[in-house]
Amino acid sequence: MSDFLEVMKGRRSIRRYLPKEISDETMQTVLESVRWAPSWANSQCWELILISDQNLKRDLQSAVSERNPSTNAVVDAPVLIALCGKLKSSGYYKGSAPTKFGDWFMFDLGIMCQTICLAAHAVSLGTVVVGLFDHERAGEIVGLPADHEVVALIPMGYSDQQPSPPKRKEMAEFCHHNIFGRS
Ligand SMILES: Cc1cc2nc3c(=O)[nH]c(=O)nc-3n(C[C@H](O)[C@H](O)[C@H](O)COP(=O)(O)O)c2cc1C
Repeated sequence: MSDFLEVMKGRRSIRRYLPKEISDETMQTVLESVRWAPSWANSQCWELILISDQNLKRDLQSAVSERNPSTNAVVDAPVLIALCGKLKSSGYYKGSAPTKFGDWFMFDLGIMCQTICLAAHAVSLGTVVVGLFDHERAGEIVGLPADHEVVALIPMGYSDQQPSPPKRKEMAEFCHHNIFGRS
């Protein structure tokens, strides 16, 4: 457990990468973790596109604003992963969505996203979740079918920086005792 907490607390968003390739074996280890992420009724609605082609990375970079702090990481990381989700498969029962929230694909992809980032960190790879970009354009670039969405881009590679952890809320700020607002 202490190893797990170490991985959890030690993971940082990495936005500068060394020009060092990721071996197939290391990549397989990271991707294997995705298979074990939980999802709504085990729907596993995710699709991952692993991009190593520099031209394709540059095309995707054009969908990310220049003001995004991870714009360069999208091209500089040896691998860019596009996290995609199939619509209307998570959160559905017999074709209808029984909960207030409708499609749960964002939720399942969020869990999977954290799983992949932690697995990467455990094998000394850095990642950053990039969520602020033109999702329509990114979908067109990677040739996504209409019933799928690109939710996030994850640059992945060996880190060329050691960022300090951004400040976290204290537990008491988000934990409530029995009733909301009671500490
Ligand atoms: C859903 C999501 C979207 C994010 N989008 C971006 C982004 O577009 N650009 C960026 O540089 N960082 C992005 N981040 C990274 C966060 O800024 C970062 O996780 C947060 O500041 C905490 O820092 P840490 O990851 O080092 O703990 C995103 C993170 C998440 C979870």
